[in-house]
Amino acid sequence: MCGIVGFTGHVQAAPILLDGLSKLEYRGYDSAGIAVRDGDKDPVVVKAKGRLAILSEKTDGGHAVAGTCGIGHTRWATHGEPSELNAHPHCSEDNFVVGVHNGIIENYQELKDKLVKKGYVFYSQTDTEVAVKLIDYYYHKYNVGPIDALAKTMVRVRGSYALEVMFKDYPGEIYVARKDSPMIIGVVPGEKEDEGETYVASDVPAILKYTRDVYYIGNLEMARLRKGEVTFFNLDGETVDKPVTRIEWDAEAAEKGGFEHFMMKEIHEQPKAVADTLASVVKENGVDLSETGLTTELMRSIRQIHIVACGSAYHVGAVGQYVIEDLARVPVRVELASEFRYRNLLLDPDDLVVVISQSGETADSLAALREAKGRGVRTLAIVNVVGSSIAREADHIFYTLAGPEIAVATTKAYSAQLIAVYALAMGFAQARETITADRAAALAEELKALPDKIERILSEQERIQWFAAKFSNARDVFFIGRGIDYAVSLEGSLKMKEISYIHSEAYAAGELKHGTISLIEDGTLVIGVLTQKDLFEKTLSNMVEVKSRGGYLMALTTYGNYSIEDTAEFTVYVPKTDPCFAASLAVIPLQLMGYYLSVARGLDVDKPRNLAKSVTVE
Ligand code: G6P
Repeated sequence: MCGIVGFTGHVQAAPILLDGLSKLEYRGYDSAGIAVRDGDKDPVVVKAKGRLAILSEKTDGGHAVAGTCGIGHTRWATHGEPSELNAHPHCSEDNFVVGVHNGIIENYQELKDKLVKKGYVFYSQTDTEVAVKLIDYYYHKYNVGPIDALAKTMVRVRGSYALEVMFKDYPGEIYVARKDSPMIIGVVPGEKEDEGETYVASDVPAILKYTRDVYYIGNLEMARLRKGEVTFFNLDGETVDKPVTRIEWDAEAAEKGGFEHFMMKEIHEQPKAVADTLASVVKENGVDLSETGLTTELMRSIRQIHIVACGSAYHVGAVGQYVIEDLARVPVRVELASEFRYRNLLLDPDDLVVVISQSGETADSLAALREAKGRGVRTLAIVNVVGSSIAREADHIFYTLAGPEIAVATTKAYSAQLIAVYALAMGFAQARETITADRAAALAEELKALPDKIERILSEQERIQWFAAKFSNARDVFFIGRGIDYAVSLEGSLKMKEISYIHSEAYAAGELKHGTISLIEDGTLVIGVLTQKDLFEKTLSNMVEVKSRGGYLMALTTYGNYSIEDTAEFTVYVPKTDPCFAASLAVIPLQLMGYYLSVARGLDVDKPRNLAKSVTVE
């Protein structure tokens, strides 16, 4: 996820661009850059690796860069490590087209190969450079205007984009195109012609200081920005009328996209985080792990997989164990990184150590990775932050594409990590031929359906809000489940305790009677997770045991299992999917439950006490 800004007007652009970018830093930052044009001169491009402050220092807060028309970008790497070279803006030869982009061009490799054959040379690893050069190619090949060149590019490109470009032949103008990535445009008309200003950005906070009247550009639409003027176009190049929307939120609320907390915003970003991560590996007939460097031969030779992680990432590992063993028939051991590193390990050279980490900086996970490497064992990192320590040091990398996560309690990174372990399970299963081609294709279809199913669960969040309000004074809550339902219970329980401060524990449903059941009192809330058809009756029996001791039952199961209402006092249903992928759906109501309990208790949802987002001490 990245942030983009643009400005054309009659005052110096660079300070405005930097100011706008500073409001978008919540979208992630590992490098930044601007391109500014002074009249019809060539654009001046300045980039810097690291935080925006470095770019600001390099340009004296923007004052050192002359010109009144420019574009800017703060990057959160997805393709290519964070570096000055990979930072945006990107340019075609002679700076003919210069552009910035937020989103992911899925077929960039195929387009790049095509452009290389046409003589284009590439200097960066980014998908954005490909998009910019493709626009340049169409502009020259067909000798058309900017809008036609953009439209031709949009037809060829697959993926998501909020794209801003400047063309050498069109000084003072910015052209934009959008699909699935956010983009808004603000226009401040001048007193006289040529005195107006036009702004563009990924999000409202970047321009709120200048105007509260914004246009939302639609999917697969383009726009031409001139001073104090914007014209919208559809893919056919026809002009489109747009209404102006008045922004009533304050600046802080705007940064959260209208949500009250980052956690809720991130919960709602899960369909996209899942879809983006899926798009990077799931193909028609299954999963393609070639980008990670895990070859078929290698996957066939692995004797055992050790998944090592902390916190929620460890819970992803717990799900992974069931799914990988089930589909690929490879033994999997899941361990807490803090335990793994200090154990007298029994590792075989044919083992694979998989470290899962959102930040890629968790001290224990990094140390576990180094321990495994030191013993000559192959390592794979499932990481969200590109260029982080764990990503740099692992032999193989699988990047989750969740975008930056701000709330301490992880939600969308957890969901994206689940996709990564499913992909791993399927990759191994395909390589080791433990599933048929038909099953692989059917599983791929199930995976692709997950984002819409998550969306459906989110549309019913009010029921959970109501239930959470009822239990906001609970003292203890227990989660029970078997198999994958147990693994997802671990995460549900963690979500609850970390942000609502209510004591909660997750138990393998069959284990409850070996001690913990003595804690059940009249009215103790017990949440049973029952998504696994084969285990439904078993967990149900354990719920009945709890009920007869006074427990208050909430059930989380799939649509169709309506008989559960004879036993449970309150039931939440999630859509059906393949049992292997059920955690992706079951976790959503549990995240919402934790969130709403925290809100009902008036707590600091995004920054719970005593916790940190990235734990870099052991
Ligand atoms: C912290 C966070 C958790 C996270 C854990 C591991 O405790 O609060 O949400 O799961 O660290 O972090 P990582 O960045 O390695 O996934």
